[in-house]
Amino acid sequence: MTYELITVRTEADKVGIITLNRPKQLNALNEQLMTELGTALHAFDADPAIGCMIITGSEKAFAAGADIGSMASYSFANVYKDDFITRNWEKIRSVRKPVIAAVSGFALGGGCELAMMCDFIIAADNARFGQPEIKLGIIPGAGGTQRLPRAVGKAKAMDLALTGRMMDALEAERSGLVSRVVPLDKLMDETLGAALMISEFSQMAVMAVKESVNRAFEGTLNDGIMFERRLFHALFATSDQKEGMDAFVNKRKAVFTHQ
Ligand code: CAA
Repeated sequence: MTYELITVRTEADKVGIITLNRPKQLNALNEQLMTELGTALHAFDADPAIGCMIITGSEKAFAAGADIGSMASYSFANVYKDDFITRNWEKIRSVRKPVIAAVSGFALGGGCELAMMCDFIIAADNARFGQPEIKLGIIPGAGGTQRLPRAVGKAKAMDLALTGRMMDALEAERSGLVSRVVPLDKLMDETLGAALMISEFSQMAVMAVKESVNRAFEGTLNDGIMFERRLFHALFATSDQKEGMDAFVNKRKAVFTHQ
């Protein structure tokens, strides 16, 4: 498959890296880009050698939002009938292996929402996050009003979505939106380090962590704990559990076969 608006590569045959590549538009997310992104993520997800994926952008912009130029003339009938935005973005959420967002520069509107759809965010010190849709006479449309408060709490989510202001990387880390902040020139090294580490683990355990942590944001605490317990029990049926524990007991490095 050839792509025009993203580039795709692998690292050590274990990590799939997707770079958003519409530099002149600050990686504004149009239909074609999102389709390519969904296709590339699913291709990596289906590749048994790949254990983790990274989505990144340019130094100046992870993504400056949905493409305002293409949206400007849309009517209610267009967007409602086409289920605009989410239809095309749902694919990203259905990926089962972990996806890390490596964010430098602007992550605004749909760009911030795309980063939040990933499993965690590592930010460069020049990253800036925001939901500025209010300035365009709309609201976030790809999960921003739901994921942002879950990540940073109601007060900051309201502040950001109602004023449209941006927050810098340190504020984003303080408030729980990003897991780590690193100097810009270390962003890819740090993210690759995390992705390579994850890809060494049992893929089944990794996917179970992802499913189970995501459950924390859906349903009740009791349901989530029961879901976690059942996945925990199920992993005792895998060879990787035997390997991981035997390696620990015998003081050697575990070699997981994803069985
Ligand atoms: N869509 C389309 N084009 C965009 C864009 C976007 N979201 N963001 C930036 N661009 C384009 C600009 O139009 C400009 O193009 P030209 O050179 O052809 O004029 C180019 O990218 C560079 O942008 P600026 O000249 O504005 O660069 P800057 O450094 O002065 O400012 C910025 C950067 C603060 C990010 C500013 O571009 C900006 O505010 N962008 C819009 C951010 C925004 O409102 N995002 C939300 C979009 S709506 C949405 O995402 C809905 C949703 O929930 C899914």
